[in-house]
Amino acid sequence: MGQTTVSTDKSLLIDAVDLVKTYVMGDQTVHALRGVSLTIAEGDFVAIMGASGSGKSTLMNILGCLDLPTSGQYRLAGEEVETMAQDQLASIRNRRIGFVFQQFNLLPRTSALENVELPMVYAGLNAAQRRERGMKALQKVGLGERFLHTPAELSGGQQQRVAIARALVNDPQLILADEPTGALDSQTSEDIMRLLQDLNQHGMTVVLVTHEADIAAWARRKLVFKDGLIVQDVAQRPGFGLTQQVRNDSEEAVR
Ligand SMILES: Nc1ncnc2c1ncn2[C@@H]1O[C@H](COP(=O)(O)OP(=O)(O)OP(=O)(O)O)[C@@H](O)[C@H]1O
Ligand SMILES: [Mg+2]
Repeated sequence: MGQTTVSTDKSLLIDAVDLVKTYVMGDQTVHALRGVSLTIAEGDFVAIMGASGSGKSTLMNILGCLDLPTSGQYRLAGEEVETMAQDQLASIRNRRIGFVFQQFNLLPRTSALENVELPMVYAGLNAAQRRERGMKALQKVGLGERFLHTPAELSGGQQQRVAIARALVNDPQLILADEPTGALDSQTSEDIMRLLQDLNQHGMTVVLVTHEADIAAWARRKLVFKDGLIVQDVAQRPGFGLTQQVRNDSEEAVR
């Protein structure tokens, strides 16, 4: 089998081969991704780290079918993404992916429930179905009582929970979170990571970008980017944050 052949293994949710993304701006060319190959199995929990400008968000946008690579192949759950037209990309996003962003991206002056219902409007569900599934998603993130609150009437952590509920309503296979705790204090960050970990333990594949080592420590696998390439790909003990890991390590040292 040739090395550039995309695998047909069904348990691979993400299968990317030699992704290149080049931006041309005037006479300047930015090599945001220089040939990234990556597989992610269903049910994995992956943290992506790396310096600012190293290509993390560029990769997330491609994995999320928000953008296409300049070259390379990408299969999501066996579907060939790089040949898709805009409407097919929108469809695969809606069916398979939930997005979580640093700035929550909630509609202001709109209730938590209405925010969570939005992806289901695009998916064509009726009002009763939307309400039922929206409430269920809010309950899942611990905000069942707050469904009438607008973003301004919620804390940062609660707003991120609403965003996670919104990411969950179409029952995706994959959560992509680009710096989901970047705007939160450390205690609230831990609550959000516990929620993502809980989703992962119930089978959700989670890929997140972070600048914080203690956030990355929650994942089972850590990728490090440098200058548009993956320079490190390591398995980690399924973590409960760095403090727990450090504690375990020191316990081992005592034994
Ligand atoms: N739409 C665009 N047009 C032109 N250049 C871009 C575009 N998006 C990203 N870039 C460039 O591509 C490179 C990678 O950017 P990217 O946003 O992926 O970095 P990042 O690792 O997510 O950084 P950060 O940690 O700051 O979010 C950078 O040099 C950036 O300036
Ligand atoms: Mg980024």
